[in-house]
Formats: sequence, C-alpha cells, structure tokens
Amino acid sequence: MTNKITVIAVDGQQQDVEFDQGDSLMEVLREAGYDEIMAMCGGCCSCATCHVKITDQAAYQLPPVEEDEEILLSLADAYELDSSRLSCQITMGEAQQGMTVAIVDAD
Ligand code: FES
Repeated sequence: MTNKITVIAVDGQQQDVEFDQGDSLMEVLREAGYDEIMAMCGGCCSCATCHVKITDQAAYQLPPVEEDEEILLSLADAYELDSSRLSCQITMGEAQQGMTVAIVDAD
C-alpha cells in the first residue's frame, strides 16, 4: 500500500504526495517541491521555517508538541495553537497515511 498524504498549497491547491516511512514530514514536503518549507536549520528545531498546519492531529497519532517546538511556533506568524506544527519534528509512518497538511506561507 502506498504511503500518501494530502497537501494543501498556499494557493489552496490540493495534491496527494507519497512518502517513505521514516522520513520527516519536512523532507517529504521539500522533495515534493514545496519551497515555502525553507527548513533553514536543516531540521534541528531552531528556525520555524518548516511551519505547517495539521488539524485532527490525534487521529494521525502525531507526537505531542515538545517545549522547544512550542516556543518557536508561538513566535511564528500565523501560529494556531490547535494546528501549527514544525514539519521537521514529525517522523512519517503508517499512522500518518491519509493525513492532510497545509503549507504555511513563509511571507
Ligand atoms: S527545519 Fe528548522 S525548525 Fe524545522
């Protein structure tokens, strides 16, 4: 079975994106060409340029937001308590199949 998520681009266009289990969500989005995910720190939870929004996080068994992640997110534009995540902090696996991820405009 193919691993897929649905990605909503900043212009509202949706597409299905395949992922390899074990990759971070940030890597999956960058490989799919979403350049808004700048990921300037390379995934070490210190830049917040990999900000995405995911509703229904519990249904896809996402890990809770760690303190570092929460501090960075709370400083980001467009932060929303219930949906904002740093995509580099999410490791993709079976449980994330079918999840919908909205890209946040970096500007
Ligand atoms: S890539 Fe820098 S915080 Fe995620």
